[in-house]
Amino acid sequence: MKNINKSMKILTMFLLAAPLIMVSFGLASAKETATDNYKLYCVQCHGTKGTGKGINAPFLSVAPRNHTSAKDMGELSDDNVFKAIKSGGGAVGKSTQMPSWGAVMTDDEIHDMVKRLRVMCKCEGKK
Ligand code: HEC
Repeated sequence: MKNINKSMKILTMFLLAAPLIMVSFGLASAKETATDNYKLYCVQCHGTKGTGKGINAPFLSVAPRNHTSAKDMGELSDDNVFKAIKSGGGAVGKSTQMPSWGAVMTDDEIHDMVKRLRVMCKCEGKK
């Protein structure tokens, strides 16, 4: 009987802890997704360091935004950055050489990307 009680206790503890573990994995993977998506979709133009000097940048007529520049990124609101990523440069009055990513990233992933860009520029969006 004692042993059964003990295993019940362990099982209960596990069941209580499981959602917490799942939530923390979820948060970790959201961050990883933004990093992965950046590497997958953005580096060829914006560069592996995000400075706008990607391998494809010399072939564009407009320079990709330097995501590490607090000055340049600080002039843009989070809504503007979200819209530029989701619907492309043309949607925010900028160059259409900045493609739209709404078909490959969910809104949640794009929100995470905006947060990641704010970490890269060490700046806040214009209010
Ligand atoms: C094919 C090249 C290319 C790729 C790939 C690309 N961009 Fe851009 N991006 C640009 C160019 C060019 C601009 C500058 C547009 C301008 O200033 O008119 C730009 C501008 C931006 C801006 C600033 C928009 C504004 O309103 O000033 C953001 C934010 C941005 N890109 C994010 C991203 C993110 C995030 C990704 C990956 C999901 C990405 N870009 C992929 C070319 C690219």
